[in-house]
Amino acid sequence: MATFWMLFFIFYFELLLKTGHCTETSGQVLSITPNTQEQVEVLRNVSTQYQTGLWKPASPHNIKELTQVHLYVPANSSETVRNLLQRHGITHEVMLSNADEIIEMQMRNESGDPRSGSTFYQRYHNLEDIYEWINRTAHENPTTVKAILIGSSYQKRPLYALKLSLNNKPNKKAMWIDCGIHAREWISPAFCLIFVQYSLSFYKLNSDITQILDNMDIYVLPVMNPDGYKYTWTKDRMWRKNRSPTNGTSCIGVDLNRNFDANWCTKGASPDPCSEIYCGAFPESEPESQAVANFLRSNKDIIQIYLTIHSYSQMLLIPYSCTMDEADNHSELYEMVKQAAENIRRYYRNVYTYGAGAKTIYLAPGGSDDWAHNLGIKYSFTFELQDRGRYGFLLPPSYIQGASNEALIALKTIALKVIEKT
Ligand code: ARG
Ligand code: ZN
Repeated sequence: MATFWMLFFIFYFELLLKTGHCTETSGQVLSITPNTQEQVEVLRNVSTQYQTGLWKPASPHNIKELTQVHLYVPANSSETVRNLLQRHGITHEVMLSNADEIIEMQMRNESGDPRSGSTFYQRYHNLEDIYEWINRTAHENPTTVKAILIGSSYQKRPLYALKLSLNNKPNKKAMWIDCGIHAREWISPAFCLIFVQYSLSFYKLNSDITQILDNMDIYVLPVMNPDGYKYTWTKDRMWRKNRSPTNGTSCIGVDLNRNFDANWCTKGASPDPCSEIYCGAFPESEPESQAVANFLRSNKDIIQIYLTIHSYSQMLLIPYSCTMDEADNHSELYEMVKQAAENIRRYYRNVYTYGAGAKTIYLAPGGSDDWAHNLGIKYSFTFELQDRGRYGFLLPPSYIQGASNEALIALKTIALKVIEKT
């Protein structure tokens, strides 16, 4: 009998421990706002020395007083990190308590599941599925869509841009859109797919997209960083950079949005290969940025609009991010993003901030938007899609459509303005 009770208690306490509050079972995302410079330093340390993932800002250097920090804390570091924060009087809020569950759900490829009610465009797709989609889209629309090979990634994956040319009007101008420059921003490639699908389906049905496609061809690069994107599906959901190695270190990857020739590797980028904002060995050192830069250089006379899609924060950004200076056509660009944000607000009741990159977020040199602007593509934009931090990079699939609708109306607003001017 005594043995029975002993076993009972052991079992019971074990259960208690497993369900207890002391041990986290899932990674969490915390929102933390440092109030003092000392707290800023503590957060910089936490985000570099413990096994955490800094979601926002992109690099510890950009952490500053009275500005929200979003930090992913894996289950096994949870206690240490919380204690540390508490010791320094830093308060935090749990933004997302079941991050691991969401990661697992999103990576499960449900495409073959007949019970999942959502359609193809309401889900995230792995790299293989996106390549297949590119192929299919080009084949099914032989007169209007062409797949153009613009280069290859470090791991020799092809970089295909789709050229949408819906009518044969001569001397059309063009717009360029790239998605997926940062691997973990899954909503970005998802938007590119939806945009192509929308253009093909609603040409001649929706007057805005008809007017746009009657006046310009549109080049869409759905995944600019395929090696990184693949890596987020297989190894590390939070990967940002590409996957190219650097001699003399085991740290991998260059931040492709710091690798362009626009005040390259000055304040806001890092020469450290282990940094999330590593600028690379020299401008366009990476095959991915080089491919895009080469294509834009060869087509700069026809391309009027450059648009690059990121997440998250809900922002519509214009040059410059590489300097505090204003672009030569600042007020013209500012008026466009202002109207775009107003339209998003009017139609979808969602708030987007807008303005020059350096002033709206932080100095971030070497970006594709600034480089394209300096090349002569005056209408150059970065969109940061949903959300504002609740799910961050883990935006659930059910938000894909809404987020894309917002980006679409902003895109239309801008493209129609440009057409009107020329
Ligand atoms: N979150 C983006 C980044 O850090 C912002 C891009 C704004 N544009 C730029 N050229 N940095 O890369
Ligand atoms: Zn990004």
